[in-house]
Amino acid sequence: MAREPLITGDVFDPGPGDELDAASAPPSEREVLWSLRPRTLDEYIGQQPVVDNLRVAITAARRRGEPLDHVLFHGPPGLGKTTLAHIIATEMGATITHTSGPALEKPGDIVGLLSNLDQGEVIFIDEVHRLSHTVEEYLYSAMEDFSVDIVTGQGPKARSLRYRLEHFTLIGATTRAGLISAPLRDRFGIVCHLDFYSDVELAAVVTRSARLLDTPIDDVAALEIAKRARGTPRVANRLLRRVRDYAEVHGTGSITPAIAADALTREGVDERGLDRLDRAYLTTIIEGYQGGPVGLEALAATINEETGLLADVVEPFLLKIGFVSRTPTGRKATELSRVHLGYPPAVEQPRLL
Ligand SMILES: Nc1ncnc2c1ncn2[C@@H]1O[C@H](COP(=O)(O)OP(=O)(O)O)[C@@H](O)[C@H]1O
Ligand SMILES: [Mg+2]
Repeated sequence: MAREPLITGDVFDPGPGDELDAASAPPSEREVLWSLRPRTLDEYIGQQPVVDNLRVAITAARRRGEPLDHVLFHGPPGLGKTTLAHIIATEMGATITHTSGPALEKPGDIVGLLSNLDQGEVIFIDEVHRLSHTVEEYLYSAMEDFSVDIVTGQGPKARSLRYRLEHFTLIGATTRAGLISAPLRDRFGIVCHLDFYSDVELAAVVTRSARLLDTPIDDVAALEIAKRARGTPRVANRLLRRVRDYAEVHGTGSITPAIAADALTREGVDERGLDRLDRAYLTTIIEGYQGGPVGLEALAATINEETGLLADVVEPFLLKIGFVSRTPTGRKATELSRVHLGYPPAVEQPRLL
């Protein structure tokens, strides 16, 4: 049977996150972004438990000559979910079809994609928490029994046809594990959580990317960029590119610690990696809501931002470094964040005299 290639995003699509970066960049810069991606598990920095887990699963599947189990990645944006999906396909020697939850509107969309997959091929669904209910239900039998039931005709003439699929591997990625229904989640054999990277791991990401970009950088400067990258490789790569520009214009092209610190301060990124949006978020809680608690919706309306952006991008890191806390009644700014932003402590300190 002739198969039409049915691919909703080409294999070299760098993924939605990098498109945000690339939107303002010329086409050559898009290629640069893509070229920074690790291609094998050996090149992938950090996330050791996840990498170890995947290595075992991939080795075992390859030895048995079987497709890999379905894999779910969850964690904040920019930590390497899309990268890992492509690495898995490479390590399995399989082609990968790239799509996303919102792109699959009708059952026909998903059935079309799945019926075009050969044995062992990978389908990557980004933002898998945004699948429509009907599409998700088709996935249940597709993932479990490698078949889908297609209903043809209407009323008394309606007939259900079972359509067999090849054994494919589904890789899902989401920033909101909590929004994935239990039946879908249970059908993934391998579930991996990606956490923020340490400064040392991010320094290794920066050093590797600088080498690929042919930019000289010393270890202290790499660590300086890493410390301000919010635990996130995508941010580290973006800051590196800004610092590289600055070094070329204001220096010799080499990145020194002073050049890095200078360039990033000018970018509005402070020593803890907070940018203007992080600071707007925190100062709004502190000044507008007396430190909180305040609900996410009210906060988003006050600073005129999307709740999704705050919940996905801003809050996970601020929670991680202890700058906000989440209570049943809303978000609160912690003492740590007050000190960092130069506000007096919220509670009266006991006086010594
Ligand atoms: N472990 C890693 N080592 C090196 N670079 C990484 C790593 N993880 C991610 N990156 C870089 O960060 C960028 C964002 O990763 P991506 O996989 O798109 O994140 P996500 O899909 O989780 O939003 C990629 O372009 C890649 O260059
Ligand atoms: Mg992604």
